[in-house]
Amino acid sequence: MEALFHARYYNNSDVASILVKALQHKSVLLKHEIAYVLGQMSVTNVKNTLIDLCNDKSQHEMVRHEAAEAIHALGFTDEETEACLRQHLSDDSIPFRQTVELALEGLLLKRKSNSEKKIKPHVPRFYLMTKKKKKQDLVIATYNTKDPVESDILIQTENELKKHFNILKDEMQRLWDRYKALFALRNHDSKQAALYLASCLDEKSSALLRHEISFILGQMQIPETALKLIERLQDKNEFSMCRHEAAISLGSLGAIDYTEIGRYWQPKIIAELKNFLNDEDPIISESCQVALFNIQNECNLQLLPNLVPL
Ligand SMILES: [Fe+2]
Ligand SMILES: [Fe+2]
Repeated sequence: MEALFHARYYNNSDVASILVKALQHKSVLLKHEIAYVLGQMSVTNVKNTLIDLCNDKSQHEMVRHEAAEAIHALGFTDEETEACLRQHLSDDSIPFRQTVELALEGLLLKRKSNSEKKIKPHVPRFYLMTKKKKKQDLVIATYNTKDPVESDILIQTENELKKHFNILKDEMQRLWDRYKALFALRNHDSKQAALYLASCLDEKSSALLRHEISFILGQMQIPETALKLIERLQDKNEFSMCRHEAAISLGSLGAIDYTEIGRYWQPKIIAELKNFLNDEDPIISESCQVALFNIQNECNLQLLPNLVPL
């Protein structure tokens, strides 16, 4: 996993080819992460690989989901890609189907607005996500990830914050609009926004949305959201993709040892991650291993003496 995230900094087709070869690995966690990284890189000759992953029903839904998101992230607007996405609109896996719906809506919007726009180079980030403000005087925060739905909403008042929170939690709203609200809240970059997001981890209508909220909480790094993430990790009836994302984000929050609240949560987070190190679902046990490895690295602790690299 560590090698994978170093590889992405070499944003070229040779590295992408190595990553494509590594898709033969048996770990679902590693494969889904490779698909994610391929989407975040600006190498477009991986389109067929991503389409094949979407089409391959023997792949775990988490891998197919990341492949569909990667297709969107790379900004393809051609008809072959559209046909691939349309073909999966009634797939048996609901999270994958919803990913495809979002990717297709994104494709059609992009085609409409500017089909000739070139893919912008971007600054890749390490897995456990830090944030960066572009300009001091701008309220909106920018995160160096390509998001599944771009949100240009700038929240400036408490009322607007509440309004977008209400959209996010409203199951009657379109998933696309809930995703836009989700990223608007993240970009507000406040503790209140993070707490609103965490409170939506109880929502029942979409595992896809819950997994994205967990991912974002790892980016925002507000330790007070750890409890809700721990609840997701503990819930054995939860989708693997949601438990996984909760574990990884806990690895991000657990590395905050430079604030009082971070130090309060760190031992609790470490204990929870250790609890699930031997979970029967390899996606979860491997995620906990990666999360603990992150805390170990960031905080110079010895948490995994016998680490077996993924
Ligand atoms: Fe995802
Ligand atoms: Fe993931």
